[in-house]
Amino acid sequence: VVDIQALYKQTGRFTYDPGFTSTASCESKITFIDGDEGVLLYRGYPIDQLAEHGDFLETCYLLLYGDLPTSGQKADFVQRVTYHTMIHEQMNRFFTGFRRDAHPMAVMTGVVGALSAFYHDSTDINDPQQRMIASLRMIAKMPTIAAMAYKYSIGQPFVYPSNELDYSANFLRMCFAVPCEEYKFNPVLSRAMDRIFILHADHEQNASTSTVRLAGSSGANPFACIAAGIACLWGPAHGGANEAALNMLHQIGSVDKIPEFIARAKDKNDPFRLMGFGHRVYKNYDPRAKIMQKTCHEVLSELGIKDDPALDVAMELEKIALSDEYFIEKKLYPNIDFYSGITLRALGFPTTMFTVLFALARTVGWIAQWKEMVEDPNQKIGRPRQLYTGATHRDYVPITQRS
Ligand code: ACO
Repeated sequence: VVDIQALYKQTGRFTYDPGFTSTASCESKITFIDGDEGVLLYRGYPIDQLAEHGDFLETCYLLLYGDLPTSGQKADFVQRVTYHTMIHEQMNRFFTGFRRDAHPMAVMTGVVGALSAFYHDSTDINDPQQRMIASLRMIAKMPTIAAMAYKYSIGQPFVYPSNELDYSANFLRMCFAVPCEEYKFNPVLSRAMDRIFILHADHEQNASTSTVRLAGSSGANPFACIAAGIACLWGPAHGGANEAALNMLHQIGSVDKIPEFIARAKDKNDPFRLMGFGHRVYKNYDPRAKIMQKTCHEVLSELGIKDDPALDVAMELEKIALSDEYFIEKKLYPNIDFYSGITLRALGFPTTMFTVLFALARTVGWIAQWKEMVEDPNQKIGRPRQLYTGATHRDYVPITQRS
């Protein structure tokens, strides 16, 4: 008879840390978070400075290479990304194979996973040059794939990339341009989109990034790893939260209903939670939420939206929650998802696209983390242990003798 507890003792000790609340899974030089102080740095640069002064492709360069580019390096990088914006024409059939009412995240998981069937050269993870080409391909093709998923879902023809536009303007055009109508480019909205992408670009070892690393640790190709990350991001406790937060604001409906929902959030017998509140790492205001709130106001003002009931509810909810004992004691502050839903909806996206936009932006973080892992000489296949609590040894009983 196997004594499992004795076996554990023989094989040495390991930590039991469900949810990895205090276990580092890797070393990384990419992103730093101080959750108590509400600090987020990409390669040492504060997120607010990058969002204010930088742009998304510059942030991609920073995350991938470790430094901000010179103007020559940036021009070269933009040109290299732009070169890869098209997807193989045959991939169109993947989209049309889905039901029109498929969730775009389901489409994204499938299509991104299928990229490895089209770009075989980039699946050689031992070739540094191919690793970089795979990275550029992912960053460049995600807006095209995301926009196609959207267009297909609303029954409109695909819009091909326009390489003379910048990254975010091109994406908005691929989503919102329609045949026979002139597309009006709005620099304020495309700047807001770009900023939203910067805010979502990386966030150290969150669930989807850890998924990408774990998948990649087996030597799986980068497209397959990113598809795994997209699948993980879809969950409502992670990337799906902005969709859930906006739904919740609509469900609350008006400012006078807020106390009722605050009471529900505090009631341990009620599974309801304030979506867009709380974070595993931030025990202070999420620095991204502040920038998102500002961006939200800029977008609504540019579009001339004066009264948005969801925004009214959000601002009042934030005020009430931040002065409530329960939220203070548990250090629950608005996270990035609290205002992003209102902003994305104002930009014209349906809620089902929210997590897709998150995936688009996070792709650079995933790929930078994947590259860092693959290039680490101490890299090993990720193989967590478990604390076995099932039955101990028992002998097989023939089916005729089982009661
Ligand atoms: N509303 C009400 N109570 C909450 C909330 C909330 N949004 N979040 C946490 N709590 C409470 C929990 O009930 C728990 O209370 P207890 O100690 O009495 O049991 C305590 O705060 C700690 O919560 P945990 O779930 O243990 O904290 P954890 O770090 O595991 O969870 C999470 C973090 C998942 C983000 C959680 O705060 C949550 O569910 N928030 C709502 C969903 C959301 O906004 N997710 C987006 C995260 S950001 C991102 O992925 C981009």
